[in-house]
Amino acid sequence: MLTSLFLLLGMFSLNTARTTLVIEAEQGKEPLIVYYGSREAAPADIATVRASGAKPQRAYPVYDMRVGELAIGNPAYALAVTQSDGAFTLDLAIENASVRRWENGEILEVVSRDKYYPVTVKNCWKSYEKEDLFETWVEITNGGKKDISLRRYYSGVLPIHKGNVHVSTFGGSWGDEARMVTAPLDNGIRLVRNIDGIRNAQSSHSEAMISLDGAPQENSGRVIGAALCWGGNYDLMFSTMAKHNYHWFLAGICPDNAEYHLEPRGTFTTPALAYSFSNEGLSGVSRNFHRWGRKYRLAHGDKERKILLNSWEGVYTRVSEPVLDKMMADWSELGGELFVLDDGWFGGKYKRTPTDCALGDWVVDKEKLPHGIPGLVQSAGRKGLKFGIWIEPEMTNTKSELFEKHPDWVLRPLHHAPIYGRGGTQLILDFTNPEVQDFIFGVVDGLMKQDPGLDYIKWDCNASIGAAGSPRLKYQSHLQAEFWAGFKKTLDRIRAAYPDLTIQTCSSGGGRASWGILPWFDEFWVSDNSDACQRVYMQWTASYFYPAITMASHISAVPNHQTGRVTSMKFRIHVAMSGRLGMEMQPKDMNPEEKELVREALVQYKRIRPVVQFGDIYRLHSPYEDGKFSSLMYCSEQKDKAVFYWFRLDNDRTHHIFPAVPMAGLDPNRNYKVEELVRGSSKPCAFEGKVFSGKFLMEHGLEMPYVHAEGKTEWSSHVLYLQAQ
Ligand code: GLA
Repeated sequence: MLTSLFLLLGMFSLNTARTTLVIEAEQGKEPLIVYYGSREAAPADIATVRASGAKPQRAYPVYDMRVGELAIGNPAYALAVTQSDGAFTLDLAIENASVRRWENGEILEVVSRDKYYPVTVKNCWKSYEKEDLFETWVEITNGGKKDISLRRYYSGVLPIHKGNVHVSTFGGSWGDEARMVTAPLDNGIRLVRNIDGIRNAQSSHSEAMISLDGAPQENSGRVIGAALCWGGNYDLMFSTMAKHNYHWFLAGICPDNAEYHLEPRGTFTTPALAYSFSNEGLSGVSRNFHRWGRKYRLAHGDKERKILLNSWEGVYTRVSEPVLDKMMADWSELGGELFVLDDGWFGGKYKRTPTDCALGDWVVDKEKLPHGIPGLVQSAGRKGLKFGIWIEPEMTNTKSELFEKHPDWVLRPLHHAPIYGRGGTQLILDFTNPEVQDFIFGVVDGLMKQDPGLDYIKWDCNASIGAAGSPRLKYQSHLQAEFWAGFKKTLDRIRAAYPDLTIQTCSSGGGRASWGILPWFDEFWVSDNSDACQRVYMQWTASYFYPAITMASHISAVPNHQTGRVTSMKFRIHVAMSGRLGMEMQPKDMNPEEKELVREALVQYKRIRPVVQFGDIYRLHSPYEDGKFSSLMYCSEQKDKAVFYWFRLDNDRTHHIFPAVPMAGLDPNRNYKVEELVRGSSKPCAFEGKVFSGKFLMEHGLEMPYVHAEGKTEWSSHVLYLQAQ
């Protein structure tokens, strides 16, 4: 009955477990969004409201005569085309709409054609039923005999009904990635425009949280989260006009300097915009993205990550066989599983000791490592460790044999001097060039052929494309599209050849924390800033869209190398245990007590690893709220196990009371036994070994003591493991 009413009205209702998206697609008209929100509130009422004449919003407004109709001057259009005769407008009408099933949902395709020009636009929506998530993207086809050009070609649009709408976006800089900025939406344009080109998450993330019920809440209220799955330049645009009932949210490739010329019979497919609705607050949206990401967008999202020691902050480029051997022996003794050799191991004519040369010359520096990488892999193996290695294969230095041989392999403006990256000598290889694609594939292939035992690669990328160009391109404005096509082709080839390799994406820290990149990677380095206190903030914001399994989170030395801050070993361990645990320091510099604590941490992390890496996140108390403390937890899908974290962030002794944090995500009808993990010499907290009902824990929570062993209050922290009885 309902279905037939929907069909009569040309409406397609895509359902996920808890949400519904209704698109109206009547022949001869344009696609409209009738509804997006919770499933319970949806079907019958929507049809009735629509039948009573309510006006739905444009699902993909294009630059046409109706742009003015939206509200005078509203710039919220997603597609703008220059026709072959120079005309600027489109006038699209739906030709057909169809739905088909895939294993976890449906795909709706609405094909529209211009009434005069041979331009076709296919809007696609794909539902992920179990994860309550949609992806939308667009395919634009030139059916004519001459080129047309795309002046704007966004991936998707969401009209957001006005009310008390707040938007959170995430941005920062090197060492301070992903700070959250929240503000109510007001008249005008709010634009996150990223033109870095390659390290695109360092300055701003391609994600936004849209809270519909006032200031964002972690565990209540209606929220839409959206992520553009693209590694290059992008726009997230919010447009609000006083005379219109809706805010407009649009996202896609940044069209600035990127006009795309579409040849006859050519099709341009935009990246996907993923979005999810939850009425369980920001954390509800995060859980949906985490589940979707682990299953569909992350390499090996179902495999536990190993606990690794990375050599960078321990020895920087001062690598040598005896030093690495000792580090590996210590790491093995502490219970580690994987050792990663960072920068400094390579170079022929130019030795990689300062970081301003040798990128591209991926031959081992025999003076430092006489037995090469195979010697180290074998040594690691004898100690029961897997081995991994750092490379930066998309880059070169002017001081390198590669650059001397192939000066034309780099991105640069056609007739102007390039801007050099790190060390004043770094340039980006031109991924549009098939020879470069082969070379980059060969870097990984060469290492793997030489040593099939390699388990892990840290793939770094320390530069921005900015205004560079490529002499190979007919149109410089195609650089983004062609560069990323080359990247995708090469990474696909690497993944096909080495499907089991673990690959971390690092880009001067968290510059590639993006769902546009992670399909080929297993995790990302959150930030070069390894200060545990700052990591509490950065990992909190990263967790809005990325699950703990993706977040490389390492215990580092004090005073911290980036901030100089001194925090307790216990605090550093606890923070690192809330992500993918690792270590980034010289183990030999630790005292026996610290070593004992790390040893215990590794034992305990192995126990909680499935809950942390595959569990559902519930953020409880934001560090942004008052800067005093932060708390979050992960619960297993069956709700039989949970890990609770509590970090004190200030040392203000006038605040002697820290109210209990009500927990979340537990089963109210089950009882949970509390076990405190890695408490060092601190006395067990009063709740150790006690059993509490899920209901009590979620309504009241436990008041955490904030004084630790030595009577100090600074950097007190707790990790509680809750197991259902
Ligand atoms: C970048 C990375 C670091 C480290 C260095 C090595 O800065 O973000 O983690 O790998 O390069 O040069």
